[in-house]
Amino acid sequence: TAPKPLAGKRIVVTSGPTHEPIDPVRYIANRSSGKQGHAIAAALARLGADVRLVSGPVAIPDPAGVSVTHVETARQMKAAVEGLLPADAAIFAAAVADWRAATEADEKMKKEGGKGPSSLPLTENPDILAGIGRHESLRPGLVIGFAAETERLVENGRAKLRRKGADYIVANDVSPDSGIGGTGVMGGDRNRITLLSPDGAEEWPEMSKDQVAERLAGLVAERLGRPFPA
Ligand code: C5P
Repeated sequence: TAPKPLAGKRIVVTSGPTHEPIDPVRYIANRSSGKQGHAIAAALARLGADVRLVSGPVAIPDPAGVSVTHVETARQMKAAVEGLLPADAAIFAAAVADWRAATEADEKMKKEGGKGPSSLPLTENPDILAGIGRHESLRPGLVIGFAAETERLVENGRAKLRRKGADYIVANDVSPDSGIGGTGVMGGDRNRITLLSPDGAEEWPEMSKDQVAERLAGLVAERLGRPFPA
């Protein structure tokens, strides 16, 4: 049987987009598929971890061997994550909507009579990673965030490392001209990441999201103090 270097370790993972309601039938969302976050959850489970995945709305199945909480909004994701702490590590792969509609309409907004909104007031969502990464008592010993950027990848990723209190930031270029084929990083099956830590930046070659997940799970196993199987 395969070695289980993460046996007994509880790891919380977020994945997918969030949906932020505007009215009963409309929402704000993004192109996140959940593929990378779900692959990470599965890879950690294969190494024996007790993985608790908090997933926004995605079209892919729950990963094998993982306990999944399904949520829609950023506020629900935050509450679910906090309810799963304490944990040995937390990996924030979700593409949480930075903004939500300031108010959610009770009825479907109408365009008739030109009375519909010409603008949509927004309010900022809570930053789940920053709240936990900078928390004095609840912070897991290992905190990994993601940074999807379309410009100045390393610079923006480094700023997030500090601001959000993460040990690592997995930075990836999500611009359509990133050189990743098909539908690009968001929605696609491949990824090319730069792993940022206070010690430096490590560029990984382009590989599948499953391979990125394997390598990240290996890093987690090393960091949590058990030998990673060769
Ligand atoms: O600021 P930005 O959205 O680029 O930050 C990305 C990182 O922060 C990701 O790890 C993401 O999961 C996390 N995040 C979060 N809550 C938010 C926004 C981002 O946990 N409201």
